[in-house]
Amino acid sequence: MERHITLGEFIIQNQKDFPYAKGELSALLSSIRLAGKMVNQEINKAGLANIIGAAGVENVQGEAQQKLDVLANDMFISTLRKRGEICGLASEEMEEHIVFNDEIHSNARYVVLIDPLDGSSNIDVNVSVGTIFSIFRRVSEPGTPVTLEDFLQPGHKQVAAGYLVYGTSTMLVYTTGNGVHGFTYDPGIGSFFLSHPNMRVKENGKIYSINEGNYVHMPEGVKKYIKWCQELDPATNRPLTSRYIGSLVADFHRNLLKGGIYIYPKGTKAPKGKLRLLYECNPMAFLIEQAGGKASDGHTRIMDILPTELHERVPFFCGSSEMVDQAEAFLREYQ
Ligand code: AHG
Ligand code: MN
Ligand code: MN
Ligand code: MN
Repeated sequence: MERHITLGEFIIQNQKDFPYAKGELSALLSSIRLAGKMVNQEINKAGLANIIGAAGVENVQGEAQQKLDVLANDMFISTLRKRGEICGLASEEMEEHIVFNDEIHSNARYVVLIDPLDGSSNIDVNVSVGTIFSIFRRVSEPGTPVTLEDFLQPGHKQVAAGYLVYGTSTMLVYTTGNGVHGFTYDPGIGSFFLSHPNMRVKENGKIYSINEGNYVHMPEGVKKYIKWCQELDPATNRPLTSRYIGSLVADFHRNLLKGGIYIYPKGTKAPKGKLRLLYECNPMAFLIEQAGGKASDGHTRIMDILPTELHERVPFFCGSSEMVDQAEAFLREYQ
């Protein structure tokens, strides 16, 4: 029986995707893969190892940091620091970006933005969580310290993005702008194998994913769209199905495979929405577009937004293209 190829083999085969990369981006992806395996190992034994629960401090987002948020953040930073592919990193869990300003790193040409542990509130209840990453080429001169401007680039400049989902099986899904490819982890062997080549999202799906508990806070257009999803109309396959895990990675992954829309709108409680443009929305937008779908803030393409600060939040509408178009039409009509 022909075996699946590994992530390592796939990366090497596709190095020609990056004409000016000289293998650095490949090496960077393999660092992320290694850190992901380490985080996966910790998550798998979370209930036994006294690493569930709150760390006792708040992060820059105003959220109670979980022990695994801190652990995953530290593991990604220390693993990426061990090699010389990036000159700096920004994380949901840290107020400012880190400058890797020593001899091995200052000539590096890439920066990483990361949500080390997505879906923190699901850790203690044994529900899927993930890691999201986004990679840019720096705009400042190699050899100089990385600057904030290197991180504040619009999403369409990403050279790679992806996520790990620590679910019933652990997967790594990524794009370098040449389609979306998914790899499933075999823990016995310790390798990721290509299980989902060229992932495509349906143009129209049956699932809508939104935290409906926020209904009273939502813009009128979103309320109307939700009601539209719930109406009976066999011609458009309605009512749709509601699915919401509360881990963006897991909700996104399911909708990517089955077709659907994920929405985190702005509201009276969160005037700019909750999700972070740089660590969550940009990478997911790159992936969904590469899979044939769409991502917007309800009006503007996510990857065209010019960020002004690291922890900027944006409303997020992401998934099957016809569903995102439909939700946008409701927003245009009702506000
Ligand atoms: P994080 O755990 O990285 O802070 O992200 C939490 C995000 C995202 O994963 C999820 O989709 C969303 O918050 C859930 O928010 P609500 O609990 O408000 O629905
Ligand atoms: Mn968080
Ligand atoms: Mn997150
Ligand atoms: Mn997080």
